[in-house]
Amino acid sequence: MTGRKRTGQKRRLTPPMAVLVVVTALATGCGDQEMGALRPAGPDAELLHGLFWVMLGLGLVVFVLVMMAFVRAARADGSELDDDEQRRRSTRLVVGGGIVLPIVVLVPLTVTMMAVGSRLAPRLGDAYEIEVTSHQFWWEVHYPETGMVTANEIHIPVDTRVRLLLETDDVIHSFWVPQLAGKIDMIPGQTTEVVIEADDVGAHLGICAEFCGVQHARMRFEVIVHERNDFRRWLDAQTADAAPPVGEAARRGMAVFAERGCAACHAVRGTDAVGDLGPDLTHLASRRSLGALTVPNRRGHLGGWIIDSQAVKPGNLMPPVPMPSEQLLDLIVYLEGLS
Ligand code: CUA
Repeated sequence: MTGRKRTGQKRRLTPPMAVLVVVTALATGCGDQEMGALRPAGPDAELLHGLFWVMLGLGLVVFVLVMMAFVRAARADGSELDDDEQRRRSTRLVVGGGIVLPIVVLVPLTVTMMAVGSRLAPRLGDAYEIEVTSHQFWWEVHYPETGMVTANEIHIPVDTRVRLLLETDDVIHSFWVPQLAGKIDMIPGQTTEVVIEADDVGAHLGICAEFCGVQHARMRFEVIVHERNDFRRWLDAQTADAAPPVGEAARRGMAVFAERGCAACHAVRGTDAVGDLGPDLTHLASRRSLGALTVPNRRGHLGGWIIDSQAVKPGNLMPPVPMPSEQLLDLIVYLEGLS
């Protein structure tokens, strides 16, 4: 035994302490709970949340055991043991660590995962269907029940199984609303699906979870949960054609919309604008954000977005649309009327 006492020495930052400091610093990143999977808000997310803790617990047990074995091996001398004792120890380690431990860990984990999987899959029966198509870098949301199309907001009724049919218009994206369900890829040429259900009225943040290009990080959306009657009212309002422009400025703005070529990419139902490259703008003013949650849907941001959306969200597919300020103001008044 070498003397391990270091009397009279000042405490230094040892490797374990350094690891602790780094881990603590990283863990503070978990403080933003805005969209955490650790705060499930629906039955499916609850199941996944439970599975997460089982996996974490078992993983932790394995980690601690391996670390204990590691420390023991590092400190052991072994020279004083006879061959028989060494052989016995080796056998114990192989049987314990190679056979017993995997069985003890993997069997409960497999059973739990199968149980969770079987409870997630069914209960589709009378689910409400919504189609979501991903684009670089926004989300198109289609309600087959009425034919309505909107963008970057998925409104659903509370306590209802909602089946989302997912497609992509370009590259692979991944759909994830951590508080409601697991993530699932959106793959060109395929339709994937996920079922979500929310316990309470409210809003949940969703993101694209697969790198898909320069604005991947600004490809977000919201799932907004309504009481069932409110959802009906919302759907009816959104399904209606756009409100006709009210007032001179709005009427001039509508003309600007046509002259500046906005209609080549955007649709406003009930008008001549039927473009389908960008988001449907029929009820733009009712949305909370612009550019897939990049900026709030307010007058200043809307103007900035129209003039040079590349400055707001570089790499998005909308070109700058420069115009004199009077025209821009008229256009904004028109768009603000699309509620
Ligand atoms: Cu779409 Cu990342």
